[in-house]
Amino acid sequence: MDSAWERMPPPVAGRAGDEGGMMPGFANHFATEAVPGALPLTQNSPQKPPYGLYAEQLSGTAFTAPRRDNLRSWLYRLYPSASHPAYVPFDQASHLRTGPFNDAAPTPNRLRWDALPLPDEPTDFVEGLVTLCGNGDAQIGVGIGVHLYAANMSMRRRAFFSADGEWLIVLQQGRLRIVTEMGVISAEPEQIVVVPRGLRFMVELPDGAARGYVCENYGAAFRLPELGPIGSNGLANPRDFETPVAAFVNDDAPFNVIQKFCGSLWTTTLAHSPFNVVAWHGNLAPYRYDLRRFNTINTVSFDHPDPSIFTVLTSPSDMPGTANCDFVIFPPRWMVAEHTFRPPWFHRNVMSEFMGLIHGVYDAKAGGFAPGGASLHNRMSAHGPDLASYEAAVAADLKPHRITDTMAFMFESRHVFQPTRFALTTPLLQRDYDDCWAGFGKARLPPPHGRNRGESA
Ligand SMILES: [Fe+2]
Repeated sequence: MDSAWERMPPPVAGRAGDEGGMMPGFANHFATEAVPGALPLTQNSPQKPPYGLYAEQLSGTAFTAPRRDNLRSWLYRLYPSASHPAYVPFDQASHLRTGPFNDAAPTPNRLRWDALPLPDEPTDFVEGLVTLCGNGDAQIGVGIGVHLYAANMSMRRRAFFSADGEWLIVLQQGRLRIVTEMGVISAEPEQIVVVPRGLRFMVELPDGAARGYVCENYGAAFRLPELGPIGSNGLANPRDFETPVAAFVNDDAPFNVIQKFCGSLWTTTLAHSPFNVVAWHGNLAPYRYDLRRFNTINTVSFDHPDPSIFTVLTSPSDMPGTANCDFVIFPPRWMVAEHTFRPPWFHRNVMSEFMGLIHGVYDAKAGGFAPGGASLHNRMSAHGPDLASYEAAVAADLKPHRITDTMAFMFESRHVFQPTRFALTTPLLQRDYDDCWAGFGKARLPPPHGRNRGESA
C-alpha cells in the first residue's frame, strides 16, 4: 500500500448509515473504497474486478468533452445497474415539470410566493416536490427547472434520480440525510447539496419535517466561477466542497426506483438496493457546500457591485459570461460603502432572476419575502428595494454596519422563467406584490425644470 492510500479517509464497511467522512475539494479526482482492496488501482475495467464487483462508468459530460470540462466516474458495485425490469409510468400524481414549460401563459409580471406549507399527510421528498417555474428544455440540455419540496417522512426503500439534470438542493428547514450511490451526505439549512444527473439517491429526514428549493440544471454542470482580477482565492473556495467516501448496503430485498425522464416520472423495482457501490473513483460525484464558508467580497469604497460578486456556482452557456444559471447568495456581510445607497439598487436586467430566502430578512425587502418564500423577476421587469427599504436606506447613517440574520439566494438565468400553472393559481401567490413599489414620490427638480413643460416662469 503506497503513501497516497494511507492518506485516504478510513474505509467504511457495511451499511450506508456508517458515514465515513467527507473528502475536500471541488471536482477532484477522488478515489475511495468501503472495503479494502475493492478499487482497481491500475485500470478502470479489469477482466476480473476485485471480489467479482461490476465496473460501470457514469458520465456527466460527453466522452469527447474537453478535458477541463470532462466529468466521469467509475463505480464498482455488487450488481450492474443494468439489472432492472422495464420502467413503467409512475401512477401517482406528480407536480414535477420539465420544459418546455407551457402549461401556463408567460407573464411579464413580477411574482412572489409565500412559503410552501409543510404537509399534513405522510409525504416523502419525492412526493413533496412541486415545480414552480423553469426555462429551456431538458431534452435539448438548456435551462433549469425550479422545484420546491416540503416533506415530513423519510423515503423508505425508494430511490430517485433525474435523467433530466443535476440537482442543486438548497435546504431551508430541517436537516436531510441524503444516501447516494457514491456515499452519504448529511446537510442542514445554509448548506447545499449537488447530486449529479442520473445518480440515484434517497432522502431521509432526521428532524422530521423539511422544506427547501431545488435547481434542476439541464445545461452544463455547475462549476466554480472564474475569479478574474479577484485572483486565485475568494468567493467559494474549492477546498470547502465536500464529497462523501464510498458507502454501500448489502441488501437483497426489493427496492423501488423512480426516475424523472423528460419531466415525467417512471418507476421500476430492483431485486436489491441500488446503493451497492463498494468503491469508486473519478471527478463526477455528489457534493456538499456550506454557504457560511463563502468568502464574501464587496466594496470598501463606494457603490454596490453587481450581484455577480456573490456567485457560488455557475452553469455556463455557449455565450461567454451569460450563464445558463448562476447560483448566487446574499450572506451576512459588512456594509461600509461611503455616500452610497447600500441595498441592491433598482434595475431592469436582461437576465432573469428567481430568488428564495433561507432565513432572516433580505436587505431589499422590508416585508413579504419570508423564509421559504420565493420571488421571480423576469427579463426586463423593473424591480429593486421596496418603499420601506428605500426610505430607510436613504435616511441611514452610513457607519460600518454588519448585516446579520440573513441568507438569501438567487438562480439567475439567461433564459426567461415560465411559471407553472400551479405557480399562477396557488393561494401562495401574493396578488399584491406590485404594491411594495407603490407610493414613491416624484423627484424634485430645481426651477425652471421643476415646472411642467409650457408653464410660464
Ligand atoms: Fe434583481
